[in-house]
Amino acid sequence: MPDTAWNAALYDERHGFVSSHGRELLDLVDPQPGEHVLDVGCGTGDHVAALTGRGAHAVGLDSSPEMVGRARRKYPALHFVTGDLLGVRPEDLAPLPGSGAEAILSNATLHWIPQAPQAAAALFRLLRPAGRLVAELGGAGNVATIVSEAERLRADERLPPADSPWYFPTLAGWALVLETAGFEVRAAWHFERPTPLDGDDGLATWVRMFGGHLLAGVPDPDAFLHALQGRLRGTLGREGRWYADYRRLRVVAVRPS
Ligand SMILES: C[S@@+](CC[C@H](N)C(=O)[O-])C[C@H]1O[C@@H](n2cnc3c(N)ncnc32)[C@H](O)[C@@H]1O
Repeated sequence: MPDTAWNAALYDERHGFVSSHGRELLDLVDPQPGEHVLDVGCGTGDHVAALTGRGAHAVGLDSSPEMVGRARRKYPALHFVTGDLLGVRPEDLAPLPGSGAEAILSNATLHWIPQAPQAAAALFRLLRPAGRLVAELGGAGNVATIVSEAERLRADERLPPADSPWYFPTLAGWALVLETAGFEVRAAWHFERPTPLDGDDGLATWVRMFGGHLLAGVPDPDAFLHALQGRLRGTLGREGRWYADYRRLRVVAVRPS
C-alpha cells in the first residue's frame, strides 16, 4: 500500500480544484445509464457521485482509509472500496460484476503509483473487453519549478535530494506502458495547466498536502516553506495569487474486444 497519509478534510477544503478539473473526464467517459464504471483513486468521492448522477452504477476504489471514510460520510448511499489498485480483484469491487467494468475513470492518481506497468496491467484486468479507460495524471515536467526550487533549498540546508513518490511520464512513455499492458491508445494529450492555489500560503499548503517528501528531514518546515514561497513568488506568484506549474497527461484507451 502507498504510505502517503491523506488529510481528507484539507483536501476538500483547499484542493477541491483537483476533482473540479477532473470533471472534464466525465464527458470523455460519457457514461451510459446502467453502465458499470470504476473510479480508480476516487479520493473523497465527487466523481463517483457525478457518475451516479449520470445514471451509471459507479464504484470508487481508493487505498486511503481517510479518503474513503470522508467519501462515505459525504455520499453514504454510494459504493466505495478501500484497496490498492495493484492488489485489488474484480470480485472485491462489488457491486461491480466479476467480469469487470465497462469504463474506468482515474483522475490525479496514477502518478502516485510508480509501478506503472503493474498499474496498467491492473487497469486492464478490471475492465471487460471493449471497456474504456479515461485517465489523467501529472505528466513529464509537472510541478518542475516547485520541485527544483525545493531541491535547491534542501541542498542549501545540506539535506539530500528528496525521495520522490511521483511518476510523471512523457506521453509516448505512458502510451507505451498502456500498449504493453494490452490497451489500444485512442487519444492522448500532454498540456500545461497553471493551477491557482488560494491564499497567501497557497503554495506552502500545497506542498504540505501533496509534497510532504520535500520536507523530509527539514528541521523547521515552517521556515523552509516561508523561504520556498519567497524564492518562488517571482515565478509562480501573479497578482497576489499562486499558480502551481501543473502539466497534465490525459489518455483515452480501450481494452480490445
Ligand atoms: C490527488 S488524489 C485524487 C482523488 C480524486 N481522483 C480527485 O479527483 O479528487 C489521489 C488519490 O489516489 C489514491 N491512491 C494513490 N495510490 C493508490 C493506489 N495504489 N490504489 C488506489 N488509490 C490510490 C490516494 O489515496 C488519493 O486519494
